[in-house]
Amino acid sequence: MTTTQRRGFNDTVTRFWSFAAPAYDQRCLQRWVYRPAQDEVIAQLRQRGSTDDDSCSSRARIADIACGTGILADRIQRELLPDEVYGIDMSEGMLAQARKRSDRVRWMSAPAEELPFEDGFLDAVVTTSAFHFFDQPAALAEFHRVLAPGGIVAVTTISPRQPIPVLQALSAAVWSPAHNPSESELLALFAGAGFTVADQHRVRRPIWTPISDLITVGVKPA
Ligand SMILES: C[S@@+](CC[C@H](N)C(=O)[O-])C[C@H]1O[C@@H](n2cnc3c(N)ncnc32)[C@H](O)[C@@H]1O
Repeated sequence: MTTTQRRGFNDTVTRFWSFAAPAYDQRCLQRWVYRPAQDEVIAQLRQRGSTDDDSCSSRARIADIACGTGILADRIQRELLPDEVYGIDMSEGMLAQARKRSDRVRWMSAPAEELPFEDGFLDAVVTTSAFHFFDQPAALAEFHRVLAPGGIVAVTTISPRQPIPVLQALSAAVWSPAHNPSESELLALFAGAGFTVADQHRVRRPIWTPISDLITVGVKPA
C-alpha cells in the first residue's frame, strides 16, 4: 500500500471516530468491550514498572497510542503517577473529548506510524483496541524507535480465537488494510520489529465471546 492510500485509509478511520466520539464513553460499551483490555495494560505497567529496569521507573514517560477519548491515558496518569503521560490519536473528535477529561495528560494529534517523539524518548508505549487499524509493521517499528532500551510495549487487539472464514474474507475484501492478527502473527510482528516477547494471553471479558482481545507485551532489548 502506498503512503497516499494509507493516508486515505487513515482519514476514513479518523472521520468515523470523530463522528462516534460523543457516544464512545457510554458505560455499557466501556465496561463490556474496552475496559477489560485497559485493565490488563494497567496491570502490566504496574507489574513491570514502566521499564524492565526499576531504577528508571521514577522517570517514566508513557504514551497511549490511539488514545481515543483518553480513558486509559487518564487512568495511567492518576493510578500509576508516572512523570509524563502522552495521549496520541488521529481523530480531533476523540481528542476533543480527551482534553476535557484531563489537563495533566499531554494530548497530541499524530498517526501511530509517525510519532512525534525523539528516538528512545519513552519508557513505555501502550495501545488498546486500535492496533487492527494500523499499518502494523510500520507502527511496531515506530514504537521500537521511540522506546528507550529496556522499555516496554503493550498491545491489545481484537483477535479471533480461531480463524473465522467470514471475518477473513471481509477483512480482505472490505476492511483491508485493517487486520485482526492471530497469536502467531503478532509474535512474528513483534520479533520482526526487534522486540523480545515477554507475555501474550487472552483478555478476559465479562462474558465469553468468539472474538476477544489478545494482549502482547514486548521489551526492547537493552
Ligand atoms: C476503538 S477506538 C479505541 C480508543 C482507545 N484506545 C480505547 O481503548 O478506548 C480506536 C481509536 O484509534 C484511532 N486510530 C485509528 N487508526 C489510527 C492511527 N493509524 N493512528 C492513530 N490513531 C488511530 C481512532 O481515531 C480511534 O480514536
